[in-house]
Amino acid sequence: MRHIDVALDTRDLLLHWPDGTSSRFPYIWLRDNDPAELHPETQERMFELLSVPETLRPIAAGITDRHLAITWPDVPDPRLLPLDWLATCQPGSVRSDPAMIAPEPWPRDFRPLQVSADAFIADQDQLKQLIALKRHGLMIVSGLAGDADSGVALGRRIGFLRPTNFGLTFDVRSKPNPNNLAYTAGALPLHTDLPNQELQPGIQFLHCVANSASGGDSIYVDGLALLNDLRHVHPDAFDVLLQTPVPFRFHDGTADIRSRQSVFDLDPLGHPSRLSINSHIMDVIDLAPDLAHRWYAGMRRLKQLLADPARQVTWHLQPGEMAVFDNRRALHGRTGFDPSSGDRHFRGFYIDHGELDSRIRVLSRIMDA
Ligand code: OGA
Ligand code: ZN
Repeated sequence: MRHIDVALDTRDLLLHWPDGTSSRFPYIWLRDNDPAELHPETQERMFELLSVPETLRPIAAGITDRHLAITWPDVPDPRLLPLDWLATCQPGSVRSDPAMIAPEPWPRDFRPLQVSADAFIADQDQLKQLIALKRHGLMIVSGLAGDADSGVALGRRIGFLRPTNFGLTFDVRSKPNPNNLAYTAGALPLHTDLPNQELQPGIQFLHCVANSASGGDSIYVDGLALLNDLRHVHPDAFDVLLQTPVPFRFHDGTADIRSRQSVFDLDPLGHPSRLSINSHIMDVIDLAPDLAHRWYAGMRRLKQLLADPARQVTWHLQPGEMAVFDNRRALHGRTGFDPSSGDRHFRGFYIDHGELDSRIRVLSRIMDA
């Protein structure tokens, strides 16, 4: 390796790399993030910030054998920090993350990705499918076994299921005394599930067990493309929906679950994210009249775009198929069905984004090995 210079500033250590670039590391950062401060087995940070003074400063620093050697006043031996590691974690630049996959808005002629259930058995194929799911927010799995649990078994290969007041899994069929519009035979307007929860479920699975009734087509819309378009055509509507928290509520005999959410957020890169659109579980709108007028006008613009058939993807799920979609991005709905004409039964469940992201990182680790 060519020459690397080390310089000690008032509060920072400067590394001048052989390629002419340099990096600035606060002294406290070098101590707090030193791998030697991690628990040897759990790899969790053991360093206690209050154990060093705010004026902490090395006594000496230099390069030895591809490591930065730092002598601290309160540590007997110099600490050795690998230069390769320092190069990958410079303060101020976000660490690389295999689960950080940029979402791609659906083009006008988008057809959902179709994936065979077998693709979830081999790690390499599964990783490819999960990355595509992150990118597009919708895929259709086919070839599941005939029993109602086969979709759940596939989901569990990805991560832990997220329970809700509807259970760990729920059966969507026309039922007597329904507590949810999904449990009727009626049409379901495009929505995201459960924005009344403190954290809206991340990934939704709807496994088609039976679908012989007439009607009951599934409809999907990309909320990311929708909001990108809204931002472009009606920026005032975009702003008011982003900035105004509104109340959501589900209640039945045993639960009363409420939250306040704006219709969407922006992610750290400025992309619309965490869409909460669900007319049937909105609570009484309690906005002051002027804001209410602006919010309703914004919602009208959004719904006008949503109603455009060109952005709606329709799919009549067959038994053995399962729709998997990002419930904080893609909207879903269905046309009404005639329960006297046949059976319609979907088994649903959720997995949060953190579980999916963790699976992608672990699979990437296996692939890199
Ligand atoms: C749901 C739902 C759609 C369907 O259960 O959340 O939207 O096709 N179901 O029945
Ligand atoms: Zn739903």
